Amino acid sequence: MNKITIAIDGFSSTGKSTIAKQLAKQLGYVYVDTGAMYRSVTLYAMENGLINNNDFNKEALVYQLPSIQISFEFNADLGFAEVYLNGINVEKKIRTLKVSGYVSQVAAVSEVRQKLVEQQQKMGEDKGVVMDGRDIGTVVFPNAKLKVFMVASAETRAERRYKELINRGEHVNYEAVLKNVTDRDYIDTNRADSPLIKADDAIEIDNSYLSLEEQFDKILQLAIMAIEDYE
Ligand code: DC
Repeated sequence: MNKITIAIDGFSSTGKSTIAKQLAKQLGYVYVDTGAMYRSVTLYAMENGLINNNDFNKEALVYQLPSIQISFEFNADLGFAEVYLNGINVEKKIRTLKVSGYVSQVAAVSEVRQKLVEQQQKMGEDKGVVMDGRDIGTVVFPNAKLKVFMVASAETRAERRYKELINRGEHVNYEAVLKNVTDRDYIDTNRADSPLIKADDAIEIDNSYLSLEEQFDKILQLAIMAIEDYE
């Protein structure tokens, strides 16, 4: 059976990664979380004094880009690949609200995007990949056979993210999470390089009122149709 490329884009906290992971597992495809790559570069900047409060030293980050290596390693217990920054597993460290607060600024830097997009295109060159992000269907794989664009109201997304952070033991309040979601929406959709935008041929799914199961069934059907159509 021929393998295809599946691009899942959309706003933050729309549940893209949960669905993409599940879909990759079901199809026997590789799952790539591109947000984790932008988050890892952000963590590097934070840990190396390139971001202090609201002061972001973009030039220094661009200069140090060659020393930032991001890789993925499959964790059989978890059933997905975890992200590594210069050989260290940072899967947990990159999910904090603090990293979320800075990541959109880092993701707006063209040199960062160029480096990560190149790596993403290499990871998907043999197809059989489900990649989630913001620009997968528009920039990374404009010829992807299936493109899904996920949306949900800001409140629904903030509520999901809030529960997730609380469950992980972070002390956050809902208003701060909602503000982070709407701030990131603004920066991600308004940046000059590869703004978050729905590709013309992407299928939009509003999951504000869909259960995970309903969403998954819908997207799996789309994937099966796309694969059959490709045979
Ligand atoms: O999917 P996420 O919330 O983990 O992504 C974190 C940030 O990274 C998001 O606010 C925008 C940026 N991003 C991007 O610009 N392009 C991608 N392909 C993936 C993420």
